[in-house]
This record gives sequence, structure tokens and C-alpha cells, in this order.
Amino acid sequence: MKKLLIGNFKMNQNPSQTKQYLIKFVAGFNGNRADVVLCPSFVSLPISAYLTKGSLVKIGAQNVSDEEEGAYTGEISAQMLKDIGVEYVIIGHSDRRLKYKESDKLINKKIKTALKNGLKCVVCVGETLADRNTGKTFDVIRHQIEECVRGLYENELESVIIAYEPIWAIGTGQNASVKDVENAAKVVRKVIYESYSEKASRDIQVLYGGSLNEKNVGALLNCAGIDGGLFGKLSLNVNQFLDIANNIK
Ligand code: PGA
Repeated sequence: MKKLLIGNFKMNQNPSQTKQYLIKFVAGFNGNRADVVLCPSFVSLPISAYLTKGSLVKIGAQNVSDEEEGAYTGEISAQMLKDIGVEYVIIGHSDRRLKYKESDKLINKKIKTALKNGLKCVVCVGETLADRNTGKTFDVIRHQIEECVRGLYENELESVIIAYEPIWAIGTGQNASVKDVENAAKVVRKVIYESYSEKASRDIQVLYGGSLNEKNVGALLNCAGIDGGLFGKLSLNVNQFLDIANNIK
């Protein structure tokens, strides 16, 4: 099975910089070992979708509105993303949960709207350092997943990817251990098993994210129960991300 690698550029790179990045990435990516989804900023999405059309590289957005259309000034709808060729969307990243106060309820609504419009959802869950230090990690992940997938049909889970991203590991240079990641993947699959079925728990794709780098990526993405990774900082470096995407075992 190929690994699924997702690059979240966050609020970095102007469209002209993303254009240069993508020209290089598309030309250099072999697709032998990994599937890659790149998630630049909204304003870079049209050029990104255009440059990757017919290539092995897929494009994702970093956020989407929970509403279909109408008087929601400043929002971007799932249909708009779909229309320009975006295939994935990251929903519930901890930046959005913490800095923009997104709740599990809102995230659940965003997922439903995105799925209805044919987008694949990369749903982020993960505990804070305080949760971890008080032994609440697994309860937090369980609660987030239960609330985020509430009301989804089992067949819709085919378009849902769960990214386990411990908040204390994001952008800190402090990655989770192999044991942490394996245990979290087990909890994710257990919740899906309890809410759906054995098949759904086996089939759902589970990613790890949080300070992935060229040194830890091999061990962390080959953990039991992990199908790939969500990269922040490292994905901004086209040479490094290409190297991982082309060579990961
Ligand atoms: P990082 O970010 O790789 O820079 O820690 C991960 C993320 O925010 O998804």
C-alpha cells in the first residue's frame, strides 16, 4: 500500500511562489511509493488545480464553509472548491479549533457539507499538552471522532481520512513516539469499529501529523495502523518533501 502524504502550507507562500513549487513538484514526483495531496492557501488553489491537472498530485484546501451558499461574507463553499478541481479539504485542524474556536459540532457540519459536494475530508483530531499530562489523550480523541463523524453513513467514511495530530507536537519540533502514535491509531479504529463496523475500522485511513521530518518520518509513518502523514513546515521545502514522497518505504 502506498502512503498518503498531505502537505499543509498553512498561511505561507504567495500564488507566484506556489506556482514555482508546483512546477518543480509535478515534474519531480514519481508516485511510486506515495500519493500526495498539497494544500496551499485559498488564493493559490486555482493555479494549483490548473498546474496539477492530469498529474499524480492532488490538491486540497485548508478549510471550507459549513454552509452551501449565501450571505456568508468571506467564506468559501465546497462547491466553489469542487468547481476549480480541488479534491480534498482539511477540516478541524488545531489552528482552526484553537485560534478560530471551531467546535466539533461545526466541524461535523463542515464534513457533511464537504462530503455532499464530493470532497474528501482530512479530519484532524488530537490532544493538548494539558490533556496528555492529565492522562486524557484517548478520551479526547474518542470524543472528537465521535462528534465529528456523528450522523455520517458508513459508505461516506470512504471519503474521510482521520489525521491524529497531538497539538503539543505541531510546529514544536517535538514529535510523538511510535508507541503514542500506534496507541492513538488503535483508539481511532476502535471508535470507528464501535460506531460502524469491523470493515470500516480496517478501511479508514489514519494519518499522523506533528513535527514530521526526514529523520522521524520512516518510523512514524510505518507504525501499526498508520497510512500516511500530514506535514506542515517540512512540506514548504519542495526538495525535502519531494525526497520523502519519492523514497518513503
Ligand atoms: P508541522 O505541522 O509538521 O509543522 O508540525 C503539522 C500540521 O500542522 O499539520
